[in-house]
Amino acid sequence: MNLILFGAPGAGKGTQSELLIKRQGMTQISTGDLFRAAIKGQTDLGKKAQEFMDKGQLVPDSIVIGMVEEVLQKGVTNFILDGFPRTVAQAQALDELLVKMNLSIDKAIFLEVPMKILMDRLTGRRVCKNCGAVYHVVSKPSKVEGKCDLCGGEVIQRNDDKAEVIETRLKTYEEFTSPLKEFYKKSGKYTEVDGNRDTEEVYKEIEKIIK
Ligand code: AP5
Repeated sequence: MNLILFGAPGAGKGTQSELLIKRQGMTQISTGDLFRAAIKGQTDLGKKAQEFMDKGQLVPDSIVIGMVEEVLQKGVTNFILDGFPRTVAQAQALDELLVKMNLSIDKAIFLEVPMKILMDRLTGRRVCKNCGAVYHVVSKPSKVEGKCDLCGGEVIQRNDDKAEVIETRLKTYEEFTSPLKEFYKKSGKYTEVDGNRDTEEVYKEIEKIIK
């Protein structure tokens, strides 16, 4: 089963991917995580990506597509694409890559969450600097403030989770990513899930779709 999990920033793509990894043995391909790893490693790719990410803008398609191609070439299967594609041009490039690699996408799952909720989720999100575990100051706080439950690493706010950057990210989503709904409806692979529910309820619905 190969999935695309898409939705606005804060819709819960990372949270649901984590559960699909643990419970379904799937492999997550998160372009946001790949960029953050490149930034941490101070690579040329990381330096380029950071310029855009810190402003809440999309990293140019050519950079993202090349990066995803490299990952897919490693022969990954049973995967979740989290945060990619994010533009219609990326979706078209993905279709071409899949044909070239003899792969296919089974479902494109859209997580629907109202804007007001997204803002609360993003401003309250905290992440572990070391292992990337995701917390929320109200709905999922770490047991000890500022310390990761899983690895003891420092729990921080992402640079792009500051209110002014979130606003740009949400606008960017509306303009460039939301047209993907129509794109995947036409492909017959589109399914919508109400993401404004308890994490476990959202997961159960995704599980039903992929079984
Ligand atoms: P990326 O890291 O992909 O960020 P995003 O799409 O903005 O998504 P988020 O990680 O913010 O949200 P999420 O949906 O994973 O939510 P989460 O599960 O964490 O991308 C970052 C940047 O990289 C982009 O802005 C861009 O610059 C660049 N980039 C990446 N991919 C790109 C591409 N393809 N093209 C161009 N540029 C690209 O949950 C959020 C919070 O809500 C958490 O605190 C969580 O605990 C909480 N939460 C989750 N689910 C629930 C629930 N059901 N109930 C209550 N709380 C919940």
